[in-house]
Amino acid sequence: MLGLRTGPGRVVMGPMRRPQDTTQFDAVDLAPDVAYLVRFLETAKQVPGFRQAKDEMLAAMRLRPGMCVLEGGCGLGADAVELAARVAPVGRVVAVDLSRAMIEEARRRAGEEVGITWQVADLLDLPFADGAFDACRVETVLQHVHDPARALAEVARVTRPGGRVVCLEFDLGTAMVDSPRRATTRTILTSLADAFAQGWVGRQLPRLLAEVGLVEISISPRVMLGGYPFWRLLLDRHLAWLQESGVLGRDEIEGWWAELAEAHASGVFTAGASAFLVAATRPASAARR
Ligand SMILES: C[S@@+](CC[C@H](N)C(=O)[O-])C[C@H]1O[C@@H](n2cnc3c(N)ncnc32)[C@H](O)[C@@H]1O
Repeated sequence: MLGLRTGPGRVVMGPMRRPQDTTQFDAVDLAPDVAYLVRFLETAKQVPGFRQAKDEMLAAMRLRPGMCVLEGGCGLGADAVELAARVAPVGRVVAVDLSRAMIEEARRRAGEEVGITWQVADLLDLPFADGAFDACRVETVLQHVHDPARALAEVARVTRPGGRVVCLEFDLGTAMVDSPRRATTRTILTSLADAFAQGWVGRQLPRLLAEVGLVEISISPRVMLGGYPFWRLLLDRHLAWLQESGVLGRDEIEGWWAELAEAHASGVFTAGASAFLVAATRPASAARR
């Protein structure tokens, strides 16, 4: 089907077909190539800086043995396994994901890991009682959710008074690539950010958490730089879509990559984006709006 994508801030496109790229994390079970999304997650989480961010998230959750914690949008499940070790031996982790394929893969990878309940569930409508969890953790999920305010209201609701909510999200509006082709780079990065459900959610997180009544909000920003192979995995499919849509020509795209490949070979490829680690507390006297 042909048409125009002319929503606010969107690049005008030709075909209405969605890009077959990482923006499909909003509906993994409908994606034609789930293996690509799995491969992308495995590669993305090797980006330097994630380990430190994950450790900081764990510290911000103020975990103790015996706690009950929620991992929201668990993906391949490695973070849920880490959480389980922190609350063992009697604590519990409930790891939810909208995607049945992701839950099945996470369960398979975790094997006999005890203390984790894997469950298909939507952050927009969590099937848990108010205050069910001592702490909740959400990493690179809200960028794929069409109503992040509602998702965070749900996360705040299921957190007990005094409990912690800890999120990490990229802000793709800050994505940068060192390329001599400025106009092309701007077109690509703006298009990528706008193709995500919430390309700017990183910068919005502190406000969104405050708006659902959370307090003691701390913001820990960082820039994460990915290598050339990671950026190819991230962008190749998006650029195919831009080419198919008539936004960029094949020669321009090939020239853009050729210069970046040279930079990579010379050890000076530089590309990344800001990520925001934001932590908050549900107030003891629940004053949610
Ligand atoms: C980029 S992956 C991140 C996975 C994991 N948190 C990590 O950091 O490795 C995004 C995950 O969020 C899930 N997801 C997207 N929308 C969701 C929603 N509304 N509720 C629950 N999970 C959702 C996707 O299925 C996918 O597994």
